[in-house]
Amino acid sequence: MLGRRQFIGGAAGLGAVGFFGFNAGCGGGGSATEWVVGSYLSLTGGEAKFGADTKDGIELAVEEINAAGGVKGKKIKVLFEDNKGQVSEVTNKVQQLIDRDKVVALLGEVASSRSEPAAVIASKKGIPMISPSSTNKVVTEGKDFAFRVCFVDEFQGKMGAEFCVKTLGKKKIGIAFAEDDLYSNGLAGEFRKAVKELGGEIVGEAKFTQNEMNFTTFAKELKASGAEMIYAPIYYKQMVQLGRHAKEEGITGNMWLGSDGWSGEQALLDELEGAYFTDHHAPDLPWEPSKKFVAAYEAKFKRKPSSLAAMGYDAAGVLADAIKRAKEDTPKGIRDAIAETKDFPGASGVITIGPDRNAQKPIVVSQIRGKEAHYADVRGPGAEKLLGGATPPAAAQLTAEPSATASA
Ligand code: PHE
Repeated sequence: MLGRRQFIGGAAGLGAVGFFGFNAGCGGGGSATEWVVGSYLSLTGGEAKFGADTKDGIELAVEEINAAGGVKGKKIKVLFEDNKGQVSEVTNKVQQLIDRDKVVALLGEVASSRSEPAAVIASKKGIPMISPSSTNKVVTEGKDFAFRVCFVDEFQGKMGAEFCVKTLGKKKIGIAFAEDDLYSNGLAGEFRKAVKELGGEIVGEAKFTQNEMNFTTFAKELKASGAEMIYAPIYYKQMVQLGRHAKEEGITGNMWLGSDGWSGEQALLDELEGAYFTDHHAPDLPWEPSKKFVAAYEAKFKRKPSSLAAMGYDAAGVLADAIKRAKEDTPKGIRDAIAETKDFPGASGVITIGPDRNAQKPIVVSQIRGKEAHYADVRGPGAEKLLGGATPPAAAQLTAEPSATASA
């Protein structure tokens, strides 16, 4: 069990300044020696990997920034709160971070369903928030203080559909998704639309709730639909089970295309050899800032970073960069500087924040090979930078030979 809160950050620790963040009364920018930032994540519960990996990424970024002297002479300190993966916990935690701890900015969440209510509060209270990896459009829409350093699902769904229909040459497609989850339902819709536009056919849809864990009947239906490829924009917890039950029906790993919700869990990589999924980052990208990040992460945590960790790292990096550029050392000043972020060299690619407060950046298509995620393709704005001039290995092969994986 985790304590109420965990700290990381400046050596000043819990001294006189420990509990003060931005103090409006003084007109200054945070405490005398620290920038106090709040992060609300799923550190326990069914999606604990989302929170834990993101926290690792944030910690690494903050450690590097503080070791290099901090920002404007002050260290960054992050107060982590655990929302247990529950929407009902989010409001409370975010309000505490803002009202009690007086944070200058917020980092979180991963799941769109939890970022959205936080974004409403942050915008109402005028505290900037950066979601590392929430991709549903409503997270930032109409919420003036809410930003994200990742792409949105309209783009993710379209790129998934293109990869499936054009690159892999699969036209009969099934979809499996959690109807009552904001992210899953939204992304399934974007994908469905794009497949139709590209001339593909949706031959079957398995719709379940986000708590479903028995997929035997759904797997039978998908198999019977004659789908050559199945798109499953769901979180890893369900996908591990769905993959297992589908395998019993003869649906093999290479018949799956997933989305970023697959990230973070080794059990999924173990289960779905050959499967593809769209993501924010892959540890083997030939892009310098990524290589540096991966090496530092491996040195600290003794394992490869998931894309969640990369996004936590980039969210913290973009925030620190904005604090540095802010004309005024206030939440509003920081908000305006985040909005002006241009060509920030993140681990997950070059990040520019657009007028909709979303990042404009490329998407990675990963393939599971040898129980690891390897990039197979990179698409979208700035893809060539992320590829460092290299031709993505699998994509080149697949384009030349569309049926190469049909029976692999
Ligand atoms: N994009 C997902 C959402 O919006 C969250 C997610 C991101 C999950 C990255 C895993 C990895 O809900």
